[in-house]
Amino acid sequence: MKITERAEIIRREMESDFFNNRLDFQSVEEFRVKYIGKKGLIPGLFREFGSLSSDEKQEAGKVVNILKKDAEKFVSELKQKSESDKDKTDFFDPSLPGLRPDVGNLHPISITMREISNIFREMGFVVEFGPEVETDYYNFQALNFPENHPARDMQDTFFISEDTLLRTHTSPIQVRSMQKQKPPIRILAPGRVFRNEAISPRSYCVFHQIEGLYIDEKVTFSELKSTLEIFAKSYFGNDVKLRFRPSYFPFTEPSAEVDITCFICGGNGCRVCKNTGWLEILGCGMVDPNVLKASNIDPEKYSGYAFGMGPDRITMLKYGIDDIRLFFDGDIRFLKQFS
Ligand code: DAH
Repeated sequence: MKITERAEIIRREMESDFFNNRLDFQSVEEFRVKYIGKKGLIPGLFREFGSLSSDEKQEAGKVVNILKKDAEKFVSELKQKSESDKDKTDFFDPSLPGLRPDVGNLHPISITMREISNIFREMGFVVEFGPEVETDYYNFQALNFPENHPARDMQDTFFISEDTLLRTHTSPIQVRSMQKQKPPIRILAPGRVFRNEAISPRSYCVFHQIEGLYIDEKVTFSELKSTLEIFAKSYFGNDVKLRFRPSYFPFTEPSAEVDITCFICGGNGCRVCKNTGWLEILGCGMVDPNVLKASNIDPEKYSGYAFGMGPDRITMLKYGIDDIRLFFDGDIRFLKQFS
């Protein structure tokens, strides 16, 4: 076989080796040695030139020189590629420092809800959950919001159908608990709620509530007051004072809204409490007899209290956050600050 023909065969093999190269240091070196190393295939061709006539030498010289140049080009290309593909090679360097996996942390609202739940759990409350998609019955009717009653306008509802909706408060969990168990009932119900409100730094279409309910024989308003006072002192600090203002909720009678002395300024007046010295933190009252009746609890024998608070607002006050939407953006840079 003529040298030029053998050069052609070597070229084809070389091209296939080039394209199939694994691109690690060892494979590139093997390629180099095989084709242009001292004892490689191409120098081997050159060594046979001694036995050729000068015409043959000239012809073969052209072909093998081009082959040699191409082989050198291939080697330098392989070296370059293996450099840039370094990460993809099998080479493992156990001495390199590892990549630290990102550690997550609780959402600031989860932190608040757990802290609050723990205080009430110590007082004997059991945590209960309910569905976020509710029926009109549990969200309104059983809580003494009669059909077409204007109180329904207090809560801008997202309806899914005529009869199903996204719960506007966690109070339907009261009803589910009363239907599930007999008094004494002492539950705390944290969860997400939904309202079709104009979105602003102060209000969002999703937020959170924590509902409390206690039903037993002879439960009184003063028990409600002392329970809330114990809670407020353990959460906001021993110096905190409470103020009950008369209010209205369809499911409680009488009803009250509760303020605490501002824990930022201690009641002296500041930007956060708008110079009033007071912060509103919850609504509460004695469970309306109609609500007990709707869940087959005898209002002659039993009474109870309920309360509901907004952990979003409490979290905002606690950390000095001025836009509620930050809680729902899922921005890691914001959330990481609570780890
Ligand atoms: N469900 C009420 C709301 O969303 C909050 C509330 C007020 C709950 C008073 C209660 C309560 O249980 O007694 O506005």
